[in-house]
Amino acid sequence: MFKEDTLSEKTILITGGGSGLGLAMAKAFARAGADVAICGRTEEKLQNAVKEIEKERAGAVARYYQCDVRDYDRVTSMFKHMIEDFGSVEGLVNNAAGNFLSASEDLSPGGFKAVVDIVLHGSFNCTHVFGNYLIDNDKEGNILNMVTTYAEGTGCAFVLPSACGKAGVLAMTKSLAFEWAEYGIRLNAIAPGPFPTEGAWSRLVPEEKMEKEFIKKVPLKRVGEPEELANLAVFLMSDLSSYMTGECVVIDGGERLQAGQFNFIDGLMPRSKLKKIFKAMKPGS
Ligand code: HXC
Repeated sequence: MFKEDTLSEKTILITGGGSGLGLAMAKAFARAGADVAICGRTEEKLQNAVKEIEKERAGAVARYYQCDVRDYDRVTSMFKHMIEDFGSVEGLVNNAAGNFLSASEDLSPGGFKAVVDIVLHGSFNCTHVFGNYLIDNDKEGNILNMVTTYAEGTGCAFVLPSACGKAGVLAMTKSLAFEWAEYGIRLNAIAPGPFPTEGAWSRLVPEEKMEKEFIKKVPLKRVGEPEELANLAVFLMSDLSSYMTGECVVIDGGERLQAGQFNFIDGLMPRSKLKKIFKAMKPGS
C-alpha cells in the first residue's frame, strides 16, 4: 500500500511502542521509511522491540528511551536525547495508555489518577514538549493521538478513568489542531474498536465469552488486525494526509453503528425471516 519513502526524512516517536498496537505502528513506520523512536517503562520489552523494528527494512534505525510519560521532566530529557541521537524529530504518536475494568463506585482515587495520568497527562506532557521544540525551531510536525470510540458521544461504563482521559485527549487534539495550525503542526486522532492486544485484552476482555460478545457487536463480525490500524497511522503521519487536521478517524469494523435505533432488529431472527416480515408489511402484499 505504501512505498518505502512514504515516511522518509521523518523521525517518529511512538509512546508505549514496545508492544501491541504501538509496536505494530512502529514497524509499519519503519517499513515506510521512517526512523523510529519508542518509549515505555520496561527496558527489556523496549530492547526486543527495537530489534524487531530494525528487521522491517534494511537500514531502518530504531532507538528506545525508558520513560514514564507521566513524568514531565523525564519526557523533557527524553526529547533532548532523541534530538541529539536523530538530529530532529518530526512526528509523535501518543499511544501509551492505561486501563482496567472496575465498577466506578469501587475505584480508588489512586486508580482513577493512574489511568488519567498516563492517558491525559502523559499525552499532554509529550505533546507540550514536542510542540515547544517544533515552535522554537520553526519546524512543521505531526501528532497522532490514540483515543477510543467511547471518547466522544457515549462515554463508557466500567472504564470511567479511560473514558475521561481519552475524552480529554480528543479535546486536546481538536483544540491544538486549531491553535497550532499557525505553526504548521497537525494533530489527528485514531479511535480503534476491538483490537485484541495482550495489554488491552488481559485487562479488559479476560474471558473468551466476552470476546465472542465483542465480535457479535461488530457488523464486520471480526476483531481488527494490528496491520489495519498501522496502515491508517502511516497515512495520518505522512504527507499523504497533509490537509487533515483535528480529525478523529474511527477504525472499528462498524462497531459504533450499533446505536442505530432499529439496528437491534437484525439480532432478533435470521435475515431471511426478517425479509419475509418486511415483505408482508408492504402495502398490497
Ligand atoms: C482496580 C486498580 C486495578 C484494577 C490498578 N488499580 N489496577 N484498581 N482494579 N484492575 C489501582 C491500584 O490499586 C492503585 O490504586 C492504582 O490503580 C495504581 O496502580 P499501580 O499498579 O500502582 O499503578 P501503575 O503500575 O502505574 O499501573 C497503571 C495501571 C496499569 C493503569 C493501573 O494497568 C498499567 O500499567 N497499564 C498499562 C497498560 C494498559 O493498561 N494497557 C491497556 C490499554 S488499552 P491505589 O489506590 O492503591 O493508589 C486501552 C484501549 C481501550 O486503553 C479500548 C479497548 C477496546
